[in-house]
Order: sequence, then C-alpha cells, then structure tokens
Amino acid sequence: MTKKVYNWGILAPGRIARKFATEIQQLENAFVFAVGSTNDERSKEFAAEFGTKHSYNNYADLVADPEVDIIYIASPHAFHAKQTLLCLDHHKPVLCEKALGLNLTEVKKMVERARENKVFFMEAMMVPHQPSYQKAKQIIESGKLGKIKSIHSWFGFNKSPYDHSQRLMNPVLGGGALLDIGLYPLFDTLYFLGEPQNITASAEFAPTGIDQSVSIRLDYPDGLSASVFASFVASSGVGTDIFCEFGTIRLRRQSALEQWIEVETLLSGVKRYTYEEKFCGLKLEASDAMRCLDEHRLESDLMPLSLSISLMKYMDLIRHQTHIIYPGEREPAIE
Ligand SMILES: NC(=O)c1ccc[n+]([C@@H]2O[C@H](COP(=O)([O-])OP(=O)(O)OC[C@H]3O[C@@H](n4cnc5c(N)ncnc54)[C@H](OP(=O)(O)O)[C@@H]3O)[C@@H](O)[C@H]2O)c1
Repeated sequence: MTKKVYNWGILAPGRIARKFATEIQQLENAFVFAVGSTNDERSKEFAAEFGTKHSYNNYADLVADPEVDIIYIASPHAFHAKQTLLCLDHHKPVLCEKALGLNLTEVKKMVERARENKVFFMEAMMVPHQPSYQKAKQIIESGKLGKIKSIHSWFGFNKSPYDHSQRLMNPVLGGGALLDIGLYPLFDTLYFLGEPQNITASAEFAPTGIDQSVSIRLDYPDGLSASVFASFVASSGVGTDIFCEFGTIRLRRQSALEQWIEVETLLSGVKRYTYEEKFCGLKLEASDAMRCLDEHRLESDLMPLSLSISLMKYMDLIRHQTHIIYPGEREPAIE
C-alpha cells in the first residue's frame, strides 16, 4: 500500500524551521507544502528555498489552508501556546517545538484543547526518537546492567559575547538555559528514572535577567539521586551518564544528526555504537507524527503528552525555587 504524503505547514520560518524542512525533504511521505510568517519577505524566501506551494504573510491563512495536513510550530517558546491553540482550533494536527510553552498552565491548556478538539498534538522533543536513546532504553529494560543507581546529565555551550536581544538571552522570548537546553538533561532523568521525590535547584543569572546556568539535583527513593546541569556560559557539551549496578551507559551528541552511545562493563570493556545521519535528527519527530496520523492516534506513544506535562511541571518547580520569572507572569504555577 502506498503511504499517504503529508502536506506540512511551517509556522514561523526561522533557524530551526530551516533545519527541520531540510531534513523532512528526505522523507518520502512528507512535503514542505506551505509556510506562514508575519513577514512577507521571510515567507517568500523560505518558500523559494524549499519549493513550497504556498507562502502566507500571516499565520491565519496558513492554518485555514484546507490542504495543509499538519503544522510545525517553530517560533520562540513565548508564542507556542497562542499559536498551538490557533492551529488546534482549526483542527490542524500540531508538532510544536520545545519548550512546549512557558509554564504548566500554558501546557495544560494546550493539551486540554487538543483532547477536547480530538486533534493530534506532540512536543518536538527529539531525544526519545533517536536510535541512541532507544538503544539505552532497550539495554536498561533488558536488565543486563542491573538497576540504575545514578544519572548525571548536562547540556552546555559558551557562545559569548551574546547579543542581549537574541532569543536565548531575551526574557520576552522565553530565553534562558532551563527552558532552552536544561529541559534535555531534565528529560533524560525523567525518561530513565521517572519522577523524583524531591528536587533542589540553583541558577546563575545573566544581565538580561534570564538564567544563564542551572544546576539541579533530583532525589529518588532509597537514596538514589540524579544531577542536571545546563548553561550558556560553560562549554560542557551534551551528555548523559547512566550508572548502573553492572556498567555505565554514556549518551553523547554533537548535533541532532551526530550522536553515539558507549556501554562499559567490567567483563566486556567499552562498546561504542554510532549511527548514520539518515537514522537520526529532527526528521524522526516528523516521521513519528505522521506514523501517529496514519494510525489515527491523538498523541505519540514515544513522546506522550503526559511526559511533556511532567517535564513542564518540574521546570515550573525549578523556576519557583530559583525565581526564574518571565514578563507577564507573577510566578510559575506550582502544582
Ligand atoms: N529541536 C531543536 O533541536 C531546536 C534547536 C533550536 C531551537 N529550537 C526551538 O525552536 C524554537 C525557535 O527557535 P529559532 O532559534 O529557530 O528561532 P528564531 O530563528 O529566532 O525565530 C523563528 C521565528 O519565530 C518568530 N519570531 C522570532 N522572534 C520573534 C519575536 N520577537 N516576536 C514574534 N515572533 C518572533 C519569527 O517568525 P515569523 O517569521 O513568522 O515572524 C521567526 O522567523 C524555540 O522554541 C527553540 O527552543 C529547537
């Protein structure tokens, strides 16, 4: 049976939208069909670059296009909630970039609307789709390494001096290390160890008021703990070490397309698994979204909405402890 080809609508064509569109062009069941930007020139430029059939100079026309099958939202996080609700109210399935919103109140509203309107909705969280993570999950579930005893996970780079108006540094756009990159190591601990009993966090702030580094400790029953670190001012790279009873799993990545995993045990030494680019990247999220639509699912079983809610719940808690507050919020809701 031939696969349905999905017409993708790209909402907010910036940096990540270009990477996403480049990658999904490699998929046989995806077509970069339409683009919507607040800026006519940006929309036309993107349309010319990717050969889209339609280019709109606003989002309303994009979501109203009856031929668009699914929308990828690629704006800064501060706009995700409003734009997701716009799409869902037009019954368009949505793949929305991380962080899914600014806080749990927003994310719950988005999830509720998707469920009320019975429309597919998913956070564009790359890692659970990546082969390295699936390998790690499989090894842990096999029990070969015994129980997890601790996780250390980090995501850091230093591109200073920063332009303070740019997305990462700008509180109005939802800038800050926790929401932009800290959610990856936090995701890893939730993904592999589940929800903690207790969480303790500290943050270092940039002159613009955003958190430029965050350090988090998560405590689990029986004295287990995990640590998470994210920073725009420390060149730590990206990694997760999972210490188990009989060995260690090391997950590493340079980019969405370049990743590897090492598994070390006393008996077997170090085994390294690498993956070709064609099996990695942002296109995996798109593939999964289209698989879900093929199967008439309203959410992904690989990246369920409960995981997005859990992630945001703990980010709210961390923000509450560290006083990370965005303009327009009095403080993050705590539940
Ligand atoms: N999955 C990943 O690996 C990954 C990597 C990087 C970023 N991201 C996520 O992708 C999202 C976008 O990041 P990006 O770096 O691609 O953003 P960007 O290039 O700075 O902006 C993307 C688009 O967002 C809209 N936008 C930007 N600034 C705005 C403003 N001040 N007011 C209103 N709209 C604005 C514009 O859309 P219009 O053209 O319509 O005006 C712009 O074209 C973020 O949520 C980020 O966390 C994900």
